[in-house]
Amino acid sequence: MPYSQIVGAGHYVPENVVTNYDLEKLMDTSDAWIRERTGIHERRFFTPGKDTVTSMAREASLKAIERAGLQPTDIEFIVFATITSDYYFPGCGVLLQRELNLPGIGALDIKNQCSGFIYALSVADQFIKAGTYKNILVVGSEIQSTFLDLSDKGRGVAVIFGDGAGAVVLQATQNPEHRILSTHLHADGRFAEELAVRDPGGSRPGRWLTHEMIDDGGTDVVMNGQNVFKHAVVRFPEVIKEALDANGFTTADVDLLIPHQANLRITKYVGEQLGLPEEKVVSNIQKYGNTTAASIPIAMSEAWENGRIQPGQLVCLAAFGSGFTWASALIRW
Ligand code: COA
Repeated sequence: MPYSQIVGAGHYVPENVVTNYDLEKLMDTSDAWIRERTGIHERRFFTPGKDTVTSMAREASLKAIERAGLQPTDIEFIVFATITSDYYFPGCGVLLQRELNLPGIGALDIKNQCSGFIYALSVADQFIKAGTYKNILVVGSEIQSTFLDLSDKGRGVAVIFGDGAGAVVLQATQNPEHRILSTHLHADGRFAEELAVRDPGGSRPGRWLTHEMIDDGGTDVVMNGQNVFKHAVVRFPEVIKEALDANGFTTADVDLLIPHQANLRITKYVGEQLGLPEEKVVSNIQKYGNTTAASIPIAMSEAWENGRIQPGQLVCLAAFGSGFTWASALIRW
């Protein structure tokens, strides 16, 4: 049976840097408040007319493919995680397939919020282990700045999120030494409305999107920040331990944890809970904010570029987010 190995990673972030000081000019907030509560210093917002969710994904994907030593034509399937697709439908998978000029190959969209990338990686891993494909592109890309209410009313949410894209190439290998060891996916839909955008929706009386929905705030991001925090600090350590237990490891065996960049306080708490020193936990939320499905592949691509990921290391990915959903992946790099 083939295993799957990550053979290339790439990322793209828009050039437009938005600092906490820039946000101070738009809403009643402060650099000190944002840093203390979230660890974020700045984030990137897309440039209209230049960046789209798909174009950012294309840039990240081309880098990942090049670093894998492959050509775009080697890619046999695309799994695209996003909650901010360029169109309501079709999803970004087919748009990326078009931009990479790969007519005919399958393209699957995954809408699992901050856990989206690990869900996407898990799906790709199953296809490779089943022998269906040899090279799969797994992508996370988000433009969230247009979802944010950059006024006092939206400040509790707006300061957290940013835009960006990351991608990896997953390849079939017969070598058990370098591979994804396991993935673990969870959800609890009882908390669906704790972090959500309710509208537009197919089940509405009349039209699926109305001016009233917008006026009533239905298209705004609603977040119960404290409840999200409370669950995140339980689910992150739980799903990381699940991955370690499943493979007979302990936290002492972990070389690098790449968590979804939700909030620096959450990441630090999780690191402490697991007894992982700071140098074993990747944090780049300071620069990019929370980029949802893109955060893990961006962090992975940067960590790889910076030499923090080395062959043979035990690398753990973990995520928690809206749904609630949470997930982990354990990789022998
Ligand atoms: N700037 C300044 N003040 C703000 C603010 C902002 N951007 N946003 C909220 N406040 C105010 C609130 O109005 C409140 O004021 P009050 O005490 O006068 O009522 C005060 O700050 C505390 O608000 P609260 O929501 O209790 O803050 P908190 O300590 O829970 O921090 C979060 C808010 C959002 C940073 C925190 O709950 C969090 O990080 N939650 C997890 C969110 C997350 O990770 N989401 C993504 C999941 S993948």
